[in-house]
Amino acid sequence: MASTNQGGKQPLLEKLQEQGAQLVDNVQGSQAWSSIFRPGSIFRKGYTDSPRNRSYVIMNSVLYHLHPVKVKRHAVKVSYTLCLGGLSFFLFLLLTVTGIFLMFFYRPTAAQAWDDIYTLQTSVTFGLLIRNMHRWAAHLMVLSVFLHMARVFYHGAYKAPREFNWVIGVILLTLTLLLSFTGYLLPWDQLALWAVTVGTNMMGFTPVFGNEVRFVLLGGTEIGTDTLLRWYVLHVLFVPFVTVIFMAIHFWRVRKDGGISGPL
Ligand code: HEM
Repeated sequence: MASTNQGGKQPLLEKLQEQGAQLVDNVQGSQAWSSIFRPGSIFRKGYTDSPRNRSYVIMNSVLYHLHPVKVKRHAVKVSYTLCLGGLSFFLFLLLTVTGIFLMFFYRPTAAQAWDDIYTLQTSVTFGLLIRNMHRWAAHLMVLSVFLHMARVFYHGAYKAPREFNWVIGVILLTLTLLLSFTGYLLPWDQLALWAVTVGTNMMGFTPVFGNEVRFVLLGGTEIGTDTLLRWYVLHVLFVPFVTVIFMAIHFWRVRKDGGISGPL
């Protein structure tokens, strides 16, 4: 817009705009700013929208860099993957958050476990809701991981170069089932006790080492507090930890294998 400078005096608004632009320039040119917003960032001075700069933006941002620089058109269609892998991951996160809530009210001993669950449901604000969210999310995760595997199989995405990621997937399926099974014992009700009794008895029939396997799983010769503590540690610490590591490898491989496979 043409300047309305009259008699050598600059109008206040124009002056303020000039000073504002100068301030933005100074901030964007400062070392602090460029140490946070790296080359190519849209917040850096002189950003131009070019394919190279777009790649920079993705690679230099802690959140964006999780995504590939380029994505194939079909890969962002929800109807192709049904987002079942993403849904499995979301359920895992939901289980972590609700599980941490449950840990505040639960003590893994034969004398306290069932009472704690009962108190949680009847006396803790949102206790019943969070317990049910945890339970339902666990059931749904088993279902979504299974359906995700079926989707991958249907699209032939287990073939080279993704065969290694399929194997990682099989490990993730096993870990998901392990999380589900170890969590089953924790309410310490009749259903849990008998499910674990049947499960560990079956494993007792493992050839050669049957008795030893059963002993390790029970933490003794029969089901009791030691079993509960053992399965609790597996459920809240060991198996989730291993699962997170394998998920990281899984997601990394999806990227490295060229993103989501194309339609057959
Ligand atoms: C905790 C369990 C799992 C999680 C969180 C997970 C997550 C994911 C995600 C987010 C993707 C990207 C595409 C999509 O959403 O479909 C993916 C792709 C893939 N997953 Fe899984 N997954 C899991 C289990 C499995 C299992 C059980 C298998 C097979 C046995 C598997 C094999 C694959 C393969 C081969 C791909 C590449 C697919 C393609 O390129 O089209 N995953 N996974």
